[in-house]
Amino acid sequence: MVIGKGDIDRGSIELAGIGHAFGRHGPRVLDGITLTVPHGQFLALVGRSGCGKSTLLHVIAGLIHPQAGEVRIGGRAVRGPSAKWNVMFQSPSLLPWMTAAGNIALGLRYAGTPKAEIGNRVEELLALVHLSEHAGDNVQDLSGGQQQRVALARSLATRPDVLLLDEPFSALDPFTRATLQQEVRAIATSLGLTLVIVTHDVDEALLMAGRAVVMAPRPGRIVADIAIPEAEHDRRAFAEARAEVLARFEAAHPSAIPERASKPSIRRFFFPALGRQPQS
Ligand SMILES: Nc1ncnc2c1ncn2[C@@H]1O[C@H](COP(=O)(O)OP(=O)(O)OP(=O)(O)O)[C@@H](O)[C@H]1O
Ligand SMILES: [Mg+2]
Repeated sequence: MVIGKGDIDRGSIELAGIGHAFGRHGPRVLDGITLTVPHGQFLALVGRSGCGKSTLLHVIAGLIHPQAGEVRIGGRAVRGPSAKWNVMFQSPSLLPWMTAAGNIALGLRYAGTPKAEIGNRVEELLALVHLSEHAGDNVQDLSGGQQQRVALARSLATRPDVLLLDEPFSALDPFTRATLQQEVRAIATSLGLTLVIVTHDVDEALLMAGRAVVMAPRPGRIVADIAIPEAEHDRRAFAEARAEVLARFEAAHPSAIPERASKPSIRRFFFPALGRQPQS
C-alpha cells in the first residue's frame, strides 16, 4: 500500500492567528494563537480556569467560529463539526434511557453507517473500552468511570483522526481517573490518533501528553510550549520538563498575593473628620 502525504497528515492540526471574543464588544478571550500539532502527537493545553482552554478546543472542533484566524485539520479548513474529529467533555452527556451499546451506536447511525456494520463495530468498541459485559446495561446504572468509557467509545465510533478532550476525567475519583488516563492514552496510541487534552492539572498534562502548551488569561494566549519526555525513558529530563511547565504555569497566573489588609480604623469610623490616617 502506498501511503500518501494525506495519510500521514490526516490528523494534523494547524492554528493560524486565532483570535476570539464573545459578542461584538466582549473582552478578547483568545488572541494570536498560532500552533501546529503533527499527526499522532499528544498535546496538553494547560492553564488556570478562565484562560480560554475550552474556547480554543471548541474552535479546533469547529463548534465556535473564531473571529480571527483559521483552523486546519488534515490540511483542510475547519468550518464545523465532523466525524473525523470528536470531542469528549467533562460530563459524558449520554442518553440516560438508552443502553451502553445504544449510546455508542448513535454516532454511527447519524454518520449513516449501514445497519449490518453497526452491530460489529459497537461490539469492537465495547471490547476496546472494557465494557463488553455491560453492553445491555442502561447507562444510568453505570458508574461515572464506566459512563466516561461509553462516551469514549462513542467518540471513537466514527474512526476519527483527532480526539479532543475537555477535562474528561475531572469529575472522577482519583483511582478511576488514573486508570482512564492510562487507558485513553493507550487507546489513542494504538489507533494512531492526534490527541489534544485540556486540563488545569499539570500532572495530568504530563501523564497524557508529549507536549504541553501553557496558556495565560485575558486574553487567552500561548506563553510556553514545552516537550515532555517519557518518564520511563529519562526520569531526569521528565522532572526538568515538569519543573518548567509548573514554573510557566505559575508565572502565567501569579497566585493572588493578598494585599496587606488595612486594619479598619476605629478612630476613622468614629471620627471621620480626622481625615487621612497616619502611615504605619
Ligand atoms: N459562551 C460564552 N459567552 C461569553 N463568554 C464566554 C463564553 N464561553 C466562555 N466565555 C468566557 O471566556 C473566557 C474563557 O472561558 P473558557 O471556558 O474557555 O475557559 P477555560 O480555560 O476552559 O476555563 P475552565 O478551566 O474553568 O473550564 C472566560 O472569561 C469565560 O467567561
Ligand atoms: Mg474549560
